[in-house]
Amino acid sequence: MEQRELAYEGKAKKMFATDDPATMLVEYKNSLTAFNAQKKDSLEGKGELNNRISARLFTFLAEEGIPNHFIKILDDTHQLVRRVRILPVEVVVRNITTGTLCKRLGVPEGVTLERPLVEFYLKDDELGDPLITEDHATLFGWANEEQIAKIKHIATSVNAILGRFFDKKGIILVDFKLEFGIDSAGDLLLADEISPDTCRFWDKETKKKLDKDRFRKDLGDVLGAYREIWSRISGEGI
Ligand code: TMP
Ligand code: ASP
Repeated sequence: MEQRELAYEGKAKKMFATDDPATMLVEYKNSLTAFNAQKKDSLEGKGELNNRISARLFTFLAEEGIPNHFIKILDDTHQLVRRVRILPVEVVVRNITTGTLCKRLGVPEGVTLERPLVEFYLKDDELGDPLITEDHATLFGWANEEQIAKIKHIATSVNAILGRFFDKKGIILVDFKLEFGIDSAGDLLLADEISPDTCRFWDKETKKKLDKDRFRKDLGDVLGAYREIWSRISGEGI
């Protein structure tokens, strides 16, 4: 496999074309942003941790019957994935109230929801990724009805599978964000990343935050939290 031109650079990853039109090379960067990049930093080792965590979680999800874009890990900060056209819809699943849900709707923090809440956001940095309804997504052509139905089904399955997985590691899966793409065959595929950048993880016993909220809220030891997630899910250190 040969690395070709930079196809896209996001806040936390670079995507390169390869000599195989069906695959892309992902480089996980050390940069960390919050609040639509109003807050920025770079943490040496963050890219490697997210590359490894994401690879492990995508592998596990595939084993559990959730197809996704991940193919294989290449080195510390690179992985190979299937090329997809990312839908401009971000899907958030929440089990416990926190974050923008509480800010936006004034509901109390830390309440366990009766059932998982699925939300859609428009993937548009200039607009600050606004919350949208399913009707917005289908009417404006961001995703069709069939895709929305599939996305909801997959997102709640991922929540159940990862919720059980993390529970066994002493971690509460509070909420997370997923992105989906369409591959060359026209099939919907789970894509992007699943890492402490895109999930909220709380220690089951202490409720300590083990994710990007440590950066958003200046709680310190951001990298230590990411390392803790990696060591609990892999049994290995970095
Ligand atoms: P929120 O409470 O800030 O809306 O975040 C909900 C979940 O989605 C949380 O696990 C963090 C994740 N998320 C992203 O991965 N990217 C984003 O741009 C935002 C706003 C949230
Ligand atoms: N990922 C978003 C940003 O970079 C928002 C967030 O995660 O808080 O700004």
